[in-house]
Amino acid sequence: MRTIAFVTQKGGAGKSTLASSVAVAARHAGERVFIIDLDPLQTLVKWSKARGAADIAVEHVPPTKLSKALAALAAKGVTLAIIDAPGQEGEHLAAAVRAADLCVIPARPNAFDLWASEITRLRVKEKGKDYAFLLNQCPPAQQSARVELGAKALQAMGGLLAPLVSSRVDYQEAARLGWGVSEYNPDGVAAAEMRELWSSIKRRLKKPKSGDATKASSAKTAKAAKKAA
Ligand SMILES: Nc1ncnc2c1ncn2[C@@H]1O[C@H](COP(=O)(O)OP(=O)(O)O)[C@@H](O)[C@H]1O
Ligand SMILES: [Mg+2]
Repeated sequence: MRTIAFVTQKGGAGKSTLASSVAVAARHAGERVFIIDLDPLQTLVKWSKARGAADIAVEHVPPTKLSKALAALAAKGVTLAIIDAPGQEGEHLAAAVRAADLCVIPARPNAFDLWASEITRLRVKEKGKDYAFLLNQCPPAQQSARVELGAKALQAMGGLLAPLVSSRVDYQEAARLGWGVSEYNPDGVAAAEMRELWSSIKRRLKKPKSGDATKASSAKTAKAAKKAA
């Protein structure tokens, strides 16, 4: 089982919106998906009630019970756990980061979100976790200078997931109905964005962790040294 967490200290960046639509895209791509809603507002628990289907289970879990809950999901054969965290510093965010194989940090292309992303990145780095940024709610004409600056800033801070996610009514309508955008309007641009985003996340999850790479290379070095001796 792989675990991804949508985290940033900034409310409104799109964590819950993207977590729900990525969950649906991943489900359609064959994953067994479970959403853990860490947010006391329980946004995705409400989304699930509106959805009224059992294909993607959603449960509110307090941070103290997160690791136990994840172990139980892995034992049950869930292949992808998605954590939606609240938009503030504290034990919820810390627990989400600790549990994640990959932290996805969404930001809108504005200075306040970008500053918040930087702080979140520090928290994630402190815990030695992998992370990638995501630019959300970009104006549909993506060539705007503001979007370009945002994309460059996030790339410089350590990697930006494709695609740039546009601001579209589909995201809001799908959320209201308990759907993902790929269910609300399967042929729409937003649906294509979420399919691409899931592919990007999946590729990113396959990358060996830096610790693994170091272990592998030091094992190689040790072997070579033994041979030379
Ligand atoms: N790509 C998008 N296009 C249009 N509206 C969006 C998009 N992403 C998020 N929103 C809207 O922005 C608001 C905040 O999103 P939300 O997912 O609740 O953020 P967070 O969980 O980070 O606080 C919601 O009203 C949501 O519908
Ligand atoms: Mg939210």
